Amino acid sequence: MNSAPASQAAAAPQLCVVVPTFNERDNVPKLFAKLDAALSGIAWEVIFVDDNSPDGTWDVVRQLAQSDPRIRCIRRIGRRGLSGACIEGILASSAPFVAVMDADLQHDETQLPKMLALLQNGEAELVVGSRYVSGGSADSFGATRAGGSKFATEIAKRLLHIDVADPMSGFFMLRRDRFEQLAPQLSTQGFKILLDLIATAKGNLRTVEVPYTFGSRLHGESKLDSMVVMDFLGLVLAKLTHDLVSLRFLLFALVGATGLVVHFATLFIALQFDIDFAWAQAIAAIVAMTGNFLLNNWLTYRDQRLKGFGVLRGLLLFYLVCSVGLLANVGVAFSVYDQEPIWWLAGAAGALMGVVWNYGISSMFVWRAR
Ligand code: GDD
Ligand code: MN
Repeated sequence: MNSAPASQAAAAPQLCVVVPTFNERDNVPKLFAKLDAALSGIAWEVIFVDDNSPDGTWDVVRQLAQSDPRIRCIRRIGRRGLSGACIEGILASSAPFVAVMDADLQHDETQLPKMLALLQNGEAELVVGSRYVSGGSADSFGATRAGGSKFATEIAKRLLHIDVADPMSGFFMLRRDRFEQLAPQLSTQGFKILLDLIATAKGNLRTVEVPYTFGSRLHGESKLDSMVVMDFLGLVLAKLTHDLVSLRFLLFALVGATGLVVHFATLFIALQFDIDFAWAQAIAAIVAMTGNFLLNNWLTYRDQRLKGFGVLRGLLLFYLVCSVGLLANVGVAFSVYDQEPIWWLAGAAGALMGVVWNYGISSMFVWRAR
């Protein structure tokens, strides 16, 4: 079989623009037209990574892609998250340089050629579109958002020793080979992929900032909510403890603590109704486990939330996991107490064993880690 002569193949892209999308159907065609205008003379492609948007963004991308092979779409089902979407998009390209950019036209695509030139001539390995260097601005921000953004930037800079002016930017470009090296250590949760990249590289990623003006969103609405704050704290915590403690684990433990309260309250109420102690204790355990499961599904694992029949299946598995966890808890507490009869030490060791077990096994079997 003959392969097509090289002259017939389209030029391999030098630059891949990765655009995470969630409910952005009206913005997609406009962004593509703007990219096309800004990147003339460059071999480029764009990958939209859509988390199965209810408004059918992926369908709009697919149709557009029928008329232009430079457009691709990754449709992710059962997953949510800006960082994870960007990571998958970048890893799906073979272009030597990759950019990440929002779909809503708040980022300035006319900066892309300049950013690319800085990477190509070796002046930088990472170029950040920055609102906080001279010439840049975020005027479209309301006062609260502006304050929050500045505050988070300060925290990140101090705690993680970062000297980039705008590590929270969602607009940047880097060498794909450098990204591939860092990718296994990046968190797929949350919004702050650039911060994660910079923190993970530990100063070993030559960075240049290019000023730009953060514009107003064209269509649709922002997905940044209060949960984003939690994701941010989680990322800082994980990086500070070298990935030992994750926010997910802390949330899981916190939910576990509320379960203890629920357990005692239920036990107390059941005993008022003259129920046998053994029965009352069993009822209290089931109520507490059910409450914990629902809270974890709503909060701790909101990005992998179980739905429909999956909730029932998950609940039954969670009961099973917790029962074994309880045995482990009691076992460890007992052996510690046997060596050193200090009740609170033995109790704490048992509880720690229980929560680590429940967390580890739950994230493997109940909310299956990807
Ligand atoms: N695939 C996917 N999955 N895309 C998402 C998700 C998600 O769960 N959440 C948001 N997006 C997409 C949006 O569709 C948009 O294209 C882009 O990510 C940014 O989301 P916005 O909701 O527009 O965020 P923002 O404008 O409030 O914040 C942006 O600017 C900040 C300042 O530069 C983001 O880029 C932030 O990361 C950035 O800090
Ligand atoms: Mn936006």
